[in-house]
Amino acid sequence: MSQRDAGNSNDPAAIAGTASADTLPMLRFLTCGSVDDGKSTLIGRLLYDCHTIFEDTLLAAERDSMMYGTTGEPLDFALLLDGLQAEREQGITIDVAYRYFATPRRKFIVADTPGHEQYTRNMVTGASTSDAAVLLVDARKGVLIQTRRHTCIVHLLGIKNIVLAVNKMDAVGYDESTFKAIDHDYRAFAALLGIANVTTIPVSALRGENLAKRAVAMSWYEGPTLLEYLESVDVTSGREREPLRLPVQWVCRPNSDFRGYAGTIASGTVSVGDQIASLPAGMTATITRILNGDEDCTSAQAGDAVVVTLDHEIDISRGDVLCAATARSEISDQISANVVWMSKHHMLKGRPYILRCGTQSVLAQISDIKYKLNVESLEHVAARDLSCNEIGSCNISLNKPITFDSYEDNRSTGAFVLIDRTTNETVGAGMIMFALRRAQNIHWQALNISREQRAELKGQHACCLWFTGLSGSGKSTIANLIEKRLFAQGRHTYILDGDNVRHGLNRDLGFTEADRVENIRRVAEVSRLMVDAGLITIVSFISPFRAERQFARERFPDGNFLEIFIDTPLDLCEQRDPKGLYKKARAGQLANFTGINSPYEAPENPEIHIAGGSVSAEEHVEEIINALVKRGFLHAH
Ligand code: ADX
Repeated sequence: MSQRDAGNSNDPAAIAGTASADTLPMLRFLTCGSVDDGKSTLIGRLLYDCHTIFEDTLLAAERDSMMYGTTGEPLDFALLLDGLQAEREQGITIDVAYRYFATPRRKFIVADTPGHEQYTRNMVTGASTSDAAVLLVDARKGVLIQTRRHTCIVHLLGIKNIVLAVNKMDAVGYDESTFKAIDHDYRAFAALLGIANVTTIPVSALRGENLAKRAVAMSWYEGPTLLEYLESVDVTSGREREPLRLPVQWVCRPNSDFRGYAGTIASGTVSVGDQIASLPAGMTATITRILNGDEDCTSAQAGDAVVVTLDHEIDISRGDVLCAATARSEISDQISANVVWMSKHHMLKGRPYILRCGTQSVLAQISDIKYKLNVESLEHVAARDLSCNEIGSCNISLNKPITFDSYEDNRSTGAFVLIDRTTNETVGAGMIMFALRRAQNIHWQALNISREQRAELKGQHACCLWFTGLSGSGKSTIANLIEKRLFAQGRHTYILDGDNVRHGLNRDLGFTEADRVENIRRVAEVSRLMVDAGLITIVSFISPFRAERQFARERFPDGNFLEIFIDTPLDLCEQRDPKGLYKKARAGQLANFTGINSPYEAPENPEIHIAGGSVSAEEHVEEIINALVKRGFLHAH
């Protein structure tokens, strides 16, 4: 076994070498703390004291302690854990690492999550599966902002058992009053959050005091050691007692005789003969078989990966959730949730993100950030966006309904992640509070006259011609000329132009990223209404971001949205500078100017690509009209 694998193996034999380890109850916990709090040392010491570290590992760590050690002791316990070279070189932990160890009473999986400020993401990852959290503070520093932030996240993630390990007690002469002051501080903060169950333990990870062994030097402390605490925390998570939730991962049809639904049970138990309802459709059926691996069984429970069959065929596909028929999940396309933002690109209201909840995947827009949490004072602060590590309470609107429970009721079916559509980065993690009732009170009103009928009356194809390009690229000039041509042919048109719309509907918006997202969101919706009214709608906005142009595209039926990229080189736009804005931007008098100090994301596959400035505006108009004719847009209906 190499040094990298220290206490970090999936091999059950490695779990403290106890043959009976398989039958022991399991506690999952996470550790978090600020850089230098001594977290790795604490875990290393715990593993060492529980005899999880092997001989050759120890030799390697002794060797490394000479080279990299930071503690000055012959054996640096933090190095026992180091999985990552970078971590050693920087002296910080940068990824979640799961370690396994065991005592005669219990098995443990510890998620070692980083304390460095921008690594909230990893902490959330570790916290989501944990039953308990060990937060570390340095006795010399006391409770820091980071401690408060981690406490907030741990609390939001529904971890009920929180222990504050006040480390480095040796460095404060094992002083009881120092510990008492930190204990007092922390309890006051935890009480504000409504956390009832807090334990504080004075420890010295370096010396192994009050971890597995009681500290003689702190005889004034009468509570449990950290290990005693971890061995006695209640681990009956209750997941099995909750109603059945089985998110369908795939429909298994090896041949025409067999149709099974595969997934991992998120909560509850399922037995042959149980009545289930498949959500969102709501059809019910009875379980006839349960396969756990290759074996038929009569029941299965939360955490088991199973394939179930039903007594009759109902329409079920990936993303559906099988629920106990008598205790069903909620279904809504508008939810209120707490979101922890984890990306260096801030959250933008109105931008569509992918929301993944279990096996369901939908598009989600933050419709309102009700407030963000000041993690120090716990005040609710008004916010237009969220940046990395911030926690906000948001209303979210989805492009189709999802099946869920509130996070308080179910940590699995109440949790989701938000993913950036272009980079695939996981940018946020959320906990659903409740469905917004207003969603249930607003319905689509069926209209008797369709878009096609309205367009037909006007003798045309209704469509959206979406012009995008830099300021000064010639969009508006070309769009105007196009409208004149169409008008002359008797077409019914309307132009939505950036400068004009910003005088009215969007006069409250400026040029920050967040405002531009909202600007385009509104224009996309308005142009959709105009196309619905049967008009040929010409939109001329810089619309610099791919995500919002894609959002606009998705407002329309396939083929009714044409992206026209007026691709004029920046230096030519700057040379033209019709409004003198480039000059101002260069002189530093205009912030966030597209192309200068704000990005423009060029279209990747526009329907029409115009090399702006290569010929006259009239010739560009000709190119576009020809392209429209070729696509059948200018034939009379
Ligand atoms: S967009 O980026 O949100 O799509 P929009 O097309 O509405 O922009 O408005 C762009 C027009 O606003 C430009 O043609 C220019 O006249 C003016 N403008 C004023 N300030 C800026 C700025 N910082 N960046 C870009 N355009 C600006």
